[in-house]
Amino acid sequence: MMRLRHRVAVVTGSSRGIGRAIAQALAREGAAVVLNAARSIGEAQAAADAIVRAGGRALAVQADVGDPADARALIGQAAETLGRVDILVNNAGFEDRAGLWQIDEARWARMLAVHVTGPFFASRAAGEIMARQGRGAIINIASMRGIEPGDAPLHYSVSKAAVLMLTRCLARDLAPQIRVNAIAPGYTETGSHAGRTIAEREQIAARIPLGRFIQPEEIGRAAVFLASDESAYITGQALIVSGGVVTG
Ligand SMILES: NC(=O)c1ccc[n+]([C@@H]2O[C@H](COP(=O)([O-])OP(=O)(O)OC[C@H]3O[C@@H](n4cnc5c(N)ncnc54)[C@H](OP(=O)(O)O)[C@@H]3O)[C@@H](O)[C@H]2O)c1
Repeated sequence: MMRLRHRVAVVTGSSRGIGRAIAQALAREGAAVVLNAARSIGEAQAAADAIVRAGGRALAVQADVGDPADARALIGQAAETLGRVDILVNNAGFEDRAGLWQIDEARWARMLAVHVTGPFFASRAAGEIMARQGRGAIINIASMRGIEPGDAPLHYSVSKAAVLMLTRCLARDLAPQIRVNAIAPGYTETGSHAGRTIAEREQIAARIPLGRFIQPEEIGRAAVFLASDESAYITGQALIVSGGVVTG
């Protein structure tokens, strides 16, 4: 059964990694998907082409969600091209392995711009359209590091904690038509761990109760659940998908 037929989804940062897996999962459930990247638009286009070849509807739009005007324009273009917006996944993000003393003003500002400011303005733009439609679902990709800092960079953890509060406040302000939830992934098998040695990865896996990194497709399945009517009574929540590293 296709759970998202006739719905239009925008997934930010979907040229690779978690975002691409979410876009593919939503498309498999019948949603028309707008993929996005700030830089790697060729890869986003290739992912969109693959969805179309498999019988779905998809397009790629270049936008830097760290720029509020770009974030709003992305939503506007999706609505204009596909006629509506039912699902927004604020996924675009990056890691910045800076220690406390390396976090200068530019690094701090960029971290908050991409992870918090962009999702806020994109959600408001999408929320306006969804409210007119009478229905919508917003999913913010936070991180288990927004709950439990572990060894993550300070500005990263702070930005992801803000995403979790943004989720709760938007859920309050956009109810009852629009549901807003977060997914807080743990160690996910994407390029953002490419710099780690095999020994480091084994050390990490040994600390994960379920014994392995998460595959991006598993985050995709969580996103389908939160986007679909199966979660119709769930809003303002964070689904922690960390293999047991963080438990609440
Ligand atoms: N991997 C993990 O272990 C993990 C764990 C917890 C949470 N997360 C979160 O999950 C999300 C995805 O992470 P990932 O591991 O899949 O990362 P990734 O493989 O590096 O992919 C990031 C995606 O976001 C895009 N992007 C980055 N900055 C952007 C911007 N300003 N505007 C639009 N697109 C942008 C990238 O494309 P361009 O750079 O070409 O624009 C790319 O498509 C992030 O929010 C991350 O914090 C990841």
